[in-house]
Amino acid sequence: MRAPVELPKSYRLLNHGPTVLVSAAHGGRRNVMAAAWNMALDFNPPKVAVVIDKATYTRELVEASASFAINVPCRALAAATLAVGQHSARELISLREGAGTDKFAHYGLATFAPSTIEAPLLEGCVAWLECRLIPEPHNQRRYDLFIGEVVAAQADTRVFSNGHWQYGPGTDPSLHTLHYVAGGHFFAIGEAFETSALEPVDRPRPENT
Ligand SMILES: Cc1cc2nc3c(=O)[nH]c(=O)nc-3n(C[C@H](O)[C@H](O)[C@H](O)COP(=O)(O)O)c2cc1C
Repeated sequence: MRAPVELPKSYRLLNHGPTVLVSAAHGGRRNVMAAAWNMALDFNPPKVAVVIDKATYTRELVEASASFAINVPCRALAAATLAVGQHSARELISLREGAGTDKFAHYGLATFAPSTIEAPLLEGCVAWLECRLIPEPHNQRRYDLFIGEVVAAQADTRVFSNGHWQYGPGTDPSLHTLHYVAGGHFFAIGEAFETSALEPVDRPRPENT
């Protein structure tokens, strides 16, 4: 059985790719936000795309530093993902909570140093991609779409090794990646499995051939 889906909700059919946390820093300011609208764009050099709304504080830092990091959170960070996705750093700034307060400090999120760019990387995530912005002003202005070249990447070896995600039956469920729908509703990734490609169906050959 099939049922139509309202077009404004059609994005939800694709939205359970991994939700990420975009971090950025510039001139002593740093920030992080959630982004469900992200995708890989190219193999070599590797590129990614992510939608970063005009209203976000993160976008200011991405544009100023021409770089950003994609942190891939896991189930253990679901509440943190929702918090940094529901609350803008602008709220903290307007609260004038004192110099040095930012979203990381506000929510007690630990970071570690990146290897190539300014953006801090979030402890507890399972993968991290450091990206240099490939400026595409039209796409950024018109579609809020930011493209980055991945210049460094690392992953938690408990769940990613030999170039593959390793979500076997014994994997700690708190390490499963997050997949967002809306309104605080997430999926966690399921078990990995392998398959071979479907064989074509044998069709009778047309006569006289
Ligand atoms: C799970 C989740 C996914 C989100 N995905 C996106 C996204 O793909 N692009 C975007 O611009 N905002 C997205 N948002 C909203 C931003 O994370 C939100 O506006 C955030 O408060 C911006 O923070 P900032 O102003 O401190 O940068 C998402 C929010 C949540 C909760």
